[in-house]
Amino acid sequence: MTTTPDFNDRMLSLGLARVSEAAALASAKLIGRGDEKAADQAAVNAMREQLNKLDIAGVVVIGEGERDEAPMLYIGEEVGNGNGPAVDIALDPLEGTTLTAKDMPNALTVIAMGPRGSMLHAPDVYMDKLAIGPGFRTGVVTMDMSPSERVSALAAAKGCSTSDITVCVLDRDRHADMLAELRSTGCAIRLITDGDVAGVIHCAEAQKTGIDMYMGSGGAPEGVLAAAALKCMGGQMFGKLLFRNDDEKGRAEKAGITNFNRVYTRDDLVTGDVIFAATGVTDGSVVAGIKREVGYLTTETILMRSKTGSVRHMTYRNPTS
Ligand code: FBP
Repeated sequence: MTTTPDFNDRMLSLGLARVSEAAALASAKLIGRGDEKAADQAAVNAMREQLNKLDIAGVVVIGEGERDEAPMLYIGEEVGNGNGPAVDIALDPLEGTTLTAKDMPNALTVIAMGPRGSMLHAPDVYMDKLAIGPGFRTGVVTMDMSPSERVSALAAAKGCSTSDITVCVLDRDRHADMLAELRSTGCAIRLITDGDVAGVIHCAEAQKTGIDMYMGSGGAPEGVLAAAALKCMGGQMFGKLLFRNDDEKGRAEKAGITNFNRVYTRDDLVTGDVIFAATGVTDGSVVAGIKREVGYLTTETILMRSKTGSVRHMTYRNPTS
């Protein structure tokens, strides 16, 4: 009788960091070159190659899209060399393709791994997101509250004025009403052009990043990745899938989702213990971007385990020849 090895998060974590680093290093030559697709492809190729060296029987649950639209790292692709535990993988080889192409802050490579069934198989639709960092009672802010009520509730919980709260929001026309309401509270708004995984992670390190709360809609797959990060760092997150048409509902049904109105908590999005790695491509508040010197590229990776709540920052100096 063959037995499946346990998910040894401690042993696998360094391997996961290597996967994340490899994707970032591969995209380095495309930073600021105006070519989103090439940057993404370089990261995808490197991430897949490195992932396939790991001793895991992995399945991509959050990936580059459906098999017919993504030839690599598609949802359902089996990755790893098969000699290890059965794991689910959520990944975004380049979170912030436009940020990379334009050399703007906070582009990351991101990957999370957990035992089979540990992460929501989120379809590629939008998700309404709300996140705050650790240290607050459960439900201090909720999806039911209006944006201004959330700011007031968080300010009361922090013992500060609403004008001392900073909210991070994706700069999109669809957020116009929400932004107007937030402005009426006097809070500060950090508008980002892309990259809401980093946006959510920023809440977990509010003192370093200056961001107290994240809200607004973005990709659902990115929502699961962000929840995996917060599960390691602490903090609350809520997500509700948003459907624009029947095709999107069909995608959710295919992924096994039947309740279209459900508000997922962080621990509904990520139900089991996971490991998470993200490497900076361009400079950001959580990790530094890739640094170049003659003959070397240096990366910074944040590597975390939800079981222990450990957060490591790792610097990797890699010879280029
Ligand atoms: P890409 O890296 O695929 O370009 O995605 C970046 C991103 O900003 C995500 O962080 C975010 O969840 C999503 O796009 C928002 O989507 P949209 O641009 O449609 O508002």
